[in-house]
Order: sequence, then C-alpha cells, then structure tokens
Amino acid sequence: MILNYKDVDLYQGEHLVLQKVNFSVEEGEMVYLTGPVGSGKSSLLKSIYGEVPIADGTAEVLGFDMARLKTKHQPMLRRQMGIVFQDFQLMPDRTVRRNLDFVLRATEWKQKADREKRIGEVLDLVKLSDKKDRMVFQLSGGEQQCICIARAILNNPKVILADEPTGNLDAENGELILALLDEIRRQQHTAIILSTHNLQWPEYFPGTVYCCGEGRLERNSEKEACPEPAGTEN
Ligand SMILES: Nc1ncnc2c1ncn2[C@@H]1O[C@H](COP(=O)(O)OP(=O)(O)O)[C@@H](O)[C@H]1O
Ligand SMILES: [Mg+2]
Repeated sequence: MILNYKDVDLYQGEHLVLQKVNFSVEEGEMVYLTGPVGSGKSSLLKSIYGEVPIADGTAEVLGFDMARLKTKHQPMLRRQMGIVFQDFQLMPDRTVRRNLDFVLRATEWKQKADREKRIGEVLDLVKLSDKKDRMVFQLSGGEQQCICIARAILNNPKVILADEPTGNLDAENGELILALLDEIRRQQHTAIILSTHNLQWPEYFPGTVYCCGEGRLERNSEKEACPEPAGTEN
C-alpha cells in the first residue's frame, strides 16, 4: 500500500477544499486526478507530501501517519517520492548534469562516481543521455519535463506525484511524458498519481480515475465519465 486516506478533510486556510476523502493507492498503480480548476487536485497532491495538513480523518502515506507528521520527518518522507510540476522548476542556467547532481548531493550521495553513474542511468531511462552537458534553457519544454522526471526518479521513489505534468506541453510532448511515466511504472513498479485536464490519457494509459468537484473526491466508474472541465486543453 502506497497510501490510504479515510474520511480526510483538507483545508486551504479557512476554506474546506475536499471533505471526507477516501483514497488509496497500491504499488505500481496509475492514478488520475481530474476535475475543474480550483477543485482541489493540487491540494490533494500537496497533502500527500505534507504541504497541506490533514485536518480531520486518518491518512497514511508510505508508512507515515500524516496527521502527526513532524516537520523533521518531511525530508524522510519526500525522499521516497518523486515530485513533478507543471512548470518545470529546474535551474535554467545550469547544465542538466548540475541539476541532477544538486539533488543527489542534497540527498547525501557522497561519492562523485556513484552520482555520475546514477545520473547516467536516469538520463538513459528518459532517453536524453546526449543532453547531459546542455544548459537547461537550451532544451525544449518536452525535454525539460523529461529531465524533471529523471530528477524525480533519482532516489528510486515508490511513488511519483505529478501535478499537471503536461499542462505546459503540446499534445505530442504530453503523450511522450505520459508514455515515459507509464514505462517507469511498469519497469520499476512505481505508483503514479497524476492530475490532468486531459480525459483521454486513461484511454491510452489505463489507470484508476478520480474526479474532484464540489468539495468531494469520487472514484470514477467506467460507465460514468467525469464532467468535462471548462477550458480543456491538452
Ligand atoms: N495557498 C492557498 N491559500 C489559500 N487558498 C488556496 C491556496 N491554494 C489553493 N487554494 C484554494 O483551494 C482551492 C483548491 O485549489 P487547488 O487545490 O489548487 O485546485 P486545483 O489544483 O484542482 O486547481 C481553490 O479554491 C483555491 O483557490
Ligand atoms: Mg492545480
């Protein structure tokens, strides 16, 4: 079990964003979070890495009791997850290698040779080994997002949290990113929890679909499609 939420309430400030959330994710599962803008997808993802508190109910993530998670335990939790955002959040004026090495140093990989080997491995996985010495700003949006995925998997996470990872990409690059995440899921048995406006991804890359709306999270049955969000893009 990656995570298990029972009757969880999530607030942003005074505002109750999602109530009585029941949500569980297994190893190697592909999970989609859909729903209109402002429906709580990001808040739910943030609660999984301890950025939004569990106001009520019980939540276990990778063995941590999230309602009682201490700030000092956050790094231990986050090291076991890979986090990917819509806006890539790389250091643009550094090389790909430096961006990845930065994370490895911060997570106590002491030996340079070990770090180099791991950087080579993750770049192979995302098929961008030839871009190791490029500056990030010289890469396309799709390539930058692949580097974010490479960065997210450096420490072999059990789960990848991806908040609209294709939101800033065209359809072709979006599909590339989904295919890459799905490949990592199948190869490493990593669970993927992904928020998206694109209701077609589950047709191409099957998974469990949840909808956020009106303060609730609901598991979607196959017969009943999620309501089309306004302003649908890729
Ligand atoms: N940092 C914040 N402070 C206060 N309210 C917030 C904050 N972040 C999000 N919200 C509010 O919480 C609700 C859910 O937002 P969010 O989880 O970002 O939704 P989504 O990712 O589905 O667009 C929205 O009403 C939003 O305005
Ligand atoms: Mg969001």
